[in-house]
Amino acid sequence: MNMELHEDQQLSPEEQAISWRRAFGFLLPLLAKRRKPMLVAFALLSGATVLSLIWPILLKRAFDVNLAAGDYGGLVITTLTITALQGIHLLLQYWQRIRLETIGQDVMVELKQGLFDHILAQDIAFFDRNPVGRLMARVESDTEALRQLFTTTAVVLVGDLLLIGGTFAVMAYYSWRLMLLLLGIMPVLAVMITIFARTTTPRFDAVRKKTAEMIATLTEFLHGMAIVQIFHRGAYARRRVREVCGDRFKSDAFAEMAVVGFFNFVTFTQYLLIGLVLLFGIAWAREGLLTVGTLSMFIILIWRAYDPIYRTSEQLGIIQKAFAGAKRIYALLATKARVLDPVRPVEWPRLKQGIRFDNVSFSYNGDDDYALKNASFEVPVGQRFALAGVTGGGKSTVINLLLRFYDPQHGRILVDGIDIREMTQEELRRRFALVLQDIYLFPGDVRSNIALENAEYSDDRVASAAQTVDAHRFIERLPKGYRTEVSEKGANFSRGERQLLSFARALVVNPDLLILDEATSSVDPETERSIQSALKVLMSGRTSLVIAHRLSTILDVDQILVIRRGEIVERGTHTELILQNGYYSKLFHLQYKSRNGVAVNVG
Ligand SMILES: Nc1ncnc2c1ncn2[C@@H]1O[C@H](COP(=O)(O)OP(=O)(O)OP(=O)(O)O)[C@@H](O)[C@H]1O
Ligand SMILES: [Mg+2]
Repeated sequence: MNMELHEDQQLSPEEQAISWRRAFGFLLPLLAKRRKPMLVAFALLSGATVLSLIWPILLKRAFDVNLAAGDYGGLVITTLTITALQGIHLLLQYWQRIRLETIGQDVMVELKQGLFDHILAQDIAFFDRNPVGRLMARVESDTEALRQLFTTTAVVLVGDLLLIGGTFAVMAYYSWRLMLLLLGIMPVLAVMITIFARTTTPRFDAVRKKTAEMIATLTEFLHGMAIVQIFHRGAYARRRVREVCGDRFKSDAFAEMAVVGFFNFVTFTQYLLIGLVLLFGIAWAREGLLTVGTLSMFIILIWRAYDPIYRTSEQLGIIQKAFAGAKRIYALLATKARVLDPVRPVEWPRLKQGIRFDNVSFSYNGDDDYALKNASFEVPVGQRFALAGVTGGGKSTVINLLLRFYDPQHGRILVDGIDIREMTQEELRRRFALVLQDIYLFPGDVRSNIALENAEYSDDRVASAAQTVDAHRFIERLPKGYRTEVSEKGANFSRGERQLLSFARALVVNPDLLILDEATSSVDPETERSIQSALKVLMSGRTSLVIAHRLSTILDVDQILVIRRGEIVERGTHTELILQNGYYSKLFHLQYKSRNGVAVNVG
């Protein structure tokens, strides 16, 4: 069985409540668009199935007509016809599979793209609720389950129905006695399959759960390998991994036992049935009610009619996964973004006057646990503003609101007097550059990490931005310069280098407003000096809003807002605030001054 690689495969109660009609509803338009190629595929499938029913009839002819009459020439012709028909059957089957596989892939690409577009349009709060692993599972394994349902189960179901129907029609035509005998045995098989499905489903659910646990454990240890090694957790890690792997294989063996046992039993009934048919058939043949050819034909038909049963276990798994996947995808597509663009957006070409927070209050959960309370302040154009305060005070929240990652519950945020909700999010963010505490480098080379695939930026513009923030020097020393590939999470760059790259990234767009969440981690004194001078260049003459952790930055700004538990408690320049001898002055002496000039961890 194909195991899930993602945790979090359980359906939430809301997802569970979605009816399958609605869950599959979103697929209908995708399939309807491809009506014609699908009809062709199913026509091919029907042709192949019908052909596969003809050759047992020809076999009967070989026995009853050719052999009975001693007509060897006729026997050769019948045999050649059988071979030719089988050849055509395989060709049709091949053609049909390719057709359907192509449609399936095509539908899934469209579905995946649609899901990604939908996710892209969500606000940041959505990503708080939906961790990456869950979204990955939606885009990858859930769509995959639907594709499988479409390309295998649909075909198998239609093909098998045709096969069984055709088989009974042929049987009824040639010997209703034998057919009735087979018909009598069918309910027994149906009951067996039901029992099988009931007993194995929980076993395979257990395997899935254990697999998820195993993968989660492995992932955690591999991600935290440095910590595992430094804190001598190797023996513990080894024991845990042995434990989860052992559990996984134990539950797997238990599940496989059921499957193997079931199939052996099915094969046994197959032989039993053929024995029964032979027993009755020979008796009837002796009475002249049946020919040897008919009997041979029946044995082959029975043999083939068992194929669908062998396929059930696999199909059951696919159907289950596809149903769950469809429900989850539906739930995801039904999620509406909370931060929306206006119907008639206002244009905002440049920052001319400044930014104003007008009595803004915001709570992440929508309750009265405010992360920001009645915040009012103004950043005039050209000024450098800093936000200061202890950890959890609400500094990042100010930035989240200004960038419209969230909308505040009360108050307004204005740029040049325009409420930011009156323009598109793209228009708003285009004039801002954001440098985050944790630098994220994308897969690709150095140049594309600075220019972020912005095609209109020339190499000169990129290099000049890098030069200004002093990143050019180390980039040039790289083996391929600006074309050097960035490895996963930027591991081939030091923290300081990553910082400088992010400055270049911010500078290359020449933003009207620079938003900076200073990194708190310490770097060596030389890099620190590079970063400090780069920051000066970056901020000089530019409207900036920084969450300052460096002494040099905080001394440099025009205005400091001190935030404590979501409220702006003090404001002024550094000198003014120190003279006030209030909260800031305490904070400053405790934290900023402690390591003069070097990065200070204020949290
Ligand atoms: N995504 C979120 N969901 C719910 N609560 C949040 C979220 N982000 C922040 N908070 C809460 O809002 C409050 C303010 O957080 P914020 O991130 O603005 O603090 P900060 O001043 O930036 O802290 P730091 O200096 O540590 O970065 C905190 O109590 C925090 O727990
Ligand atoms: Mg923060």
